[in-house]
Amino acid sequence: MMRTHRCGELNQTHIGQEVALCGWVHRRRDHGGVIFIDLRDREGIVQAVVDPSVPEAFAKAEQVRSEYVIRVVGTVRHRPPGTENLNLPTGRIEVMVSAMEILNRAETPPFPIDSEVPVSEEVRLRYRYLDLRRPQMQARLRLRREVAGFLRRFLDAHGFYEIETPFLTKATPEGARDYLVPSRVHPHAFYALPQSPQLYKQLLMIAGFDRYYQIVRCFRDEDLRADRQPEFTQLDIETSFMDENEIMALMEEMMRQLFKEILAVELPNPFPRLSYAEAVSRFGSDKPDLRIPLELSDLTDLMREVDFKVFSGPASDPEGRVAALRLPGGAELSRREIEDLTAFVAGYGAKGLAYVKVNARAQGREGLQSPILKFLPDAVIEAILQRTGAQSGDIVFFGADKAKIVADALGALRIKLGHERGLIEPGWRPLWIVQFPMFEWDPEQRRWVALHHPFTAPRCSIEELKANPKEALSRAYDMVLNGVEIGGGSIRIHTQQMQQAVFELLGIGPEEAQEKFGFLLTALKYGCPPHGGIAFGLDRLVMLMAGASTIRDVMAFPKTQAAACPMVDAPAKVSEEQLRELSLQLRKL
Ligand code: AMO
Ligand code: AMP
Repeated sequence: MMRTHRCGELNQTHIGQEVALCGWVHRRRDHGGVIFIDLRDREGIVQAVVDPSVPEAFAKAEQVRSEYVIRVVGTVRHRPPGTENLNLPTGRIEVMVSAMEILNRAETPPFPIDSEVPVSEEVRLRYRYLDLRRPQMQARLRLRREVAGFLRRFLDAHGFYEIETPFLTKATPEGARDYLVPSRVHPHAFYALPQSPQLYKQLLMIAGFDRYYQIVRCFRDEDLRADRQPEFTQLDIETSFMDENEIMALMEEMMRQLFKEILAVELPNPFPRLSYAEAVSRFGSDKPDLRIPLELSDLTDLMREVDFKVFSGPASDPEGRVAALRLPGGAELSRREIEDLTAFVAGYGAKGLAYVKVNARAQGREGLQSPILKFLPDAVIEAILQRTGAQSGDIVFFGADKAKIVADALGALRIKLGHERGLIEPGWRPLWIVQFPMFEWDPEQRRWVALHHPFTAPRCSIEELKANPKEALSRAYDMVLNGVEIGGGSIRIHTQQMQQAVFELLGIGPEEAQEKFGFLLTALKYGCPPHGGIAFGLDRLVMLMAGASTIRDVMAFPKTQAAACPMVDAPAKVSEEQLRELSLQLRKL
């Protein structure tokens, strides 16, 4: 037998047994005639001891270097007293080697596998197969496998069918650009890679499959961030004959069991729910991190009459807002630090960052310090202090602008201060965001766009929707965990009339609707059940569970921030011959 056990599996129950192990040389140490080899495989590391009294093995042990692939045969024994390593799961035992074989040599790797030295991501990704050998990456991909395995078992047990849907398809709008694939057999025509299986899963409901799931790759050509990749994995789910409360209850249960089984963490039952409006008002975000104990306070009504244009302007604008963010203990911030924060919020469109330092709360105006005090009457100052709950030693920041800018700027400031000032509370804070608006006004395109996607059902009738698209709410729900949107879904439109009305409101005329979504409009005519679903970002979920800071760290072969793969060198130029076959010609850049 080539091997009998994996290295990391061995423990005291194997004492006295002869084992055969295969793996990589993690580290080799010469100790006064005895050679110690830390032998590594995916389950962990075990210490192999080669004594000169076994000359054949010893001669080979002298040759091995880091990352050589070897096979050893030996006997498991207790480590001598005083030499145990309790940091290592196999640290109480070692393998006394009786025979050794070098299966393959290795050049010195471009970075060490056995220590966490800082390595540029470019290099890590160019040699990803070596990067993945590092115990931390092995552990992350093991966690990912456990998470996916649990989710499959849960959904299988609840009657979901796993069904595959095509990658070569037509555009599915989820708000990003499509990746296109030219067709050879249909010159000048292109497939689009799916941004999600949204329409196929709805068609599967029309087809009667009732409960579907798929762990599926999605493709989106968008600007990348720590939690966004051009291809990423969804746990995609759709059900028929379940309303949003039933779907949310089942999905919560899945998450509770997942966290319990894998991390031994108890998530709340039920998850709290916040309306979109309340989340934006209190946290400046539709994916609030509830671990940060800071909240925005709305001051719009107080500021309409004040003699300070910066505040009274937005307060009187129906689309404006004035809000405050109190930072406990922030009165100590220096002018320089406040300038830096002002520059930070400017990145979100804020034109300034007014503030009031509360040096002595009991002294009213005298106890405050701020460049804007002179503009505000006593009653307004008192109301600000009361609403924000300000105490001596605090600072209160202000945002005054279009409501979206205020929310974005103060919401981002809340997160930044939460992290920088060590305010993040430990633990897991999941919640649902519900009652999303149906539409958002896009000032550039001058039209309504769907906040979720155009197949999301409204909470009102066609007539009400047409009469007041601005106020219409949808039947969408997002699951948020520690400030990360880990999933989003909705009850879908299941009548052709409603689907057409929504397309019209989105500025998609009958012809365009027919051309892009004719198959859906037709399918809706043949007995479409009420249905709804959700999709989770599997990479994001595993990132959070692994304590990683980017989804790249839980994907085997991610792209760089520039959407490239330095290992295989993709994307790459193609030959003239391939282009000709595809009837394509390149434009000048
Ligand atoms: P949505 O676009 O909200 O919904 O996507 C669902 C979840 O997928 C994850 N996600 C991403 N993860 C990594 N990189 C990306 N570029 C990326 N984009 C999205 C997020 C998100 O919550 N079809 C609908 C779902 C539905 O309505 O059922 C959809 O795709 O965690
Ligand atoms: P100014 O009147 O422009 O000198 O601004 C006075 C204070 O208000 C400064 O601290 C600015 O940073 C702040 N400020 C200016 N515009 C805004 C705004 N839109 N929101 C919040 N604070 C602002």
